Amino acid sequence: MSSFQIIVGSMLGGTEYVAEACEESLVELGHDVTLHLSPDLSNIATQNQTWLICTSTHGAGDYPDNLLPFIDQLTSTTIDLSSTKYMVIGIGDSNYDTFCLAAKNIDKLIESKGCERLITIKTFDMTLDIDPEEEAQAWLLTNKDQL
Ligand SMILES: Cc1cc2nc3c(=O)[nH]c(=O)nc-3n(C[C@H](O)[C@H](O)[C@H](O)COP(=O)(O)O)c2cc1C
Repeated sequence: MSSFQIIVGSMLGGTEYVAEACEESLVELGHDVTLHLSPDLSNIATQNQTWLICTSTHGAGDYPDNLLPFIDQLTSTTIDLSSTKYMVIGIGDSNYDTFCLAAKNIDKLIESKGCERLITIKTFDMTLDIDPEEEAQAWLLTNKDQL
């Protein structure tokens, strides 16, 4: 069993549903899960955690507003995060050149802090993926042995 911190970046609420679907699946798999809609690094950066970032992209490749304080904290932190594992789900729209750029950027930022990526980033395209909640759950189940 792992201790999961789900960190949500959302402007319009859609990504929140995907995060909640992931929470449901992870609990069913027997993990301990906390979901953060206003993530604060000081509550999240404890030892031996697995982070699941679920974020949309807004503006022109920008982070959702609710994620900005966490990004600032993470960028400047000196906390040892080497025991942290993580994975990222991005929600976006492929009509934008900056498709899922916020998710791609946070994936790199967390890696740069010495955390271990468990699974390659998963992106969902709102123009193609009809049911990202169900697809995210299927993705977790497929990868359950790595969690
Ligand atoms: C003003 C605006 C800007 C957006 N910019 C991007 C973008 O740069 N890249 C991208 O992949 N999607 C972009 N999107 C699409 C959103 O990421 C997509 O609609 C997503 O489902 C919104 O998730 P949310 O409801 O959690 O905020 C944009 C949407 C809006 C409304």
